[in-house]
Amino acid sequence: MTRSHRLLLLLLLIFQTAQRLTTADPNDEACLKNLRQNLEDPASNLRNWTNSVFSNPCSGFTSYLPGATCNNGRIYKLSLTNLSLRGSISPFLSNCTNLQSLDLSSNQISGVIPPEIQYLVNLAVLNLSSNHLSGEITPQLALCAYLNVIDLHDNELSGQIPQQLGLLARLSAFDVSNNKLSGDDDEE
Ligand SMILES: *[C@@H]1O[C@H](CO)[C@@H](O)[C@H](O)[C@H]1NC(C)=O
Ligand SMILES: *[C@@H]1O[C@H](CO)[C@@H](O)[C@H](O)[C@H]1NC(C)=O
Ligand SMILES: *[C@@H]1O[C@H](CO)[C@@H](O)[C@H](O)[C@H]1NC(C)=O
Ligand SMILES: *[C@@H]1O[C@H](CO)[C@@H](O)[C@H](O)[C@H]1NC(C)=O
Repeated sequence: MTRSHRLLLLLLLIFQTAQRLTTADPNDEACLKNLRQNLEDPASNLRNWTNSVFSNPCSGFTSYLPGATCNNGRIYKLSLTNLSLRGSISPFLSNCTNLQSLDLSSNQISGVIPPEIQYLVNLAVLNLSSNHLSGEITPQLALCAYLNVIDLHDNELSGQIPQQLGLLARLSAFDVSNNKLSGDDDEE
């Protein structure tokens, strides 16, 4: 190999590495795009959540998306609280496979908690409190083994608290008060 060949190879390597650091994960892109699509945003609080950002939301630990935190080029936390959001939670949320914390509290989000949330195997914090979520609490939540916070208070969830959630060994905060769960005090 000649000297210039070696230089070319080196440049190629640097270029590829840089590209890896700045190119979005296709799963994160699908997650963000669909999450945004299913949410209604009457107060335009998500005006900077645009398709061009979804294809490149992170550069290493820097996030270009308001409300998102990045870790190693992947979406790590999503915190969209008190933004007057409506609509529902897209099942594609599960494509954000590195998600560790999801906080959509204090909005007017309705619909169910998608069972696909089970694929978020790194999820430690789930705060969906103070919304209009309905349906049953999905027992699949028990498959998110790292969950230590589940806050679902102030919603319209019905049915029973799934027994499987007792398997969550790390759970330190669990609040499902003010719902329509059977056994709830305010149900009678
Ligand atoms: C996202 O999730 C869906 C449903 O779980 C899956 O079919 C798809 O392959 C995932 N990835 C992308 C990039 O859409
Ligand atoms: C949205 O982007 C504009 C222009 O880049 C910026 O001035 C504004 O502060 C951003 N808004 C939010 C809520 O991040
Ligand atoms: C929620 O947002 C409204 C309007 O932006 C603001 O007035 C209120 O103080 C916020 N509440 C909390 C708890 O942050
Ligand atoms: C969930 O979010 C609400 C509102 O933002 C907050 O008051 C509450 O403390 C959070 N729950 C936990 C367990 O951190």
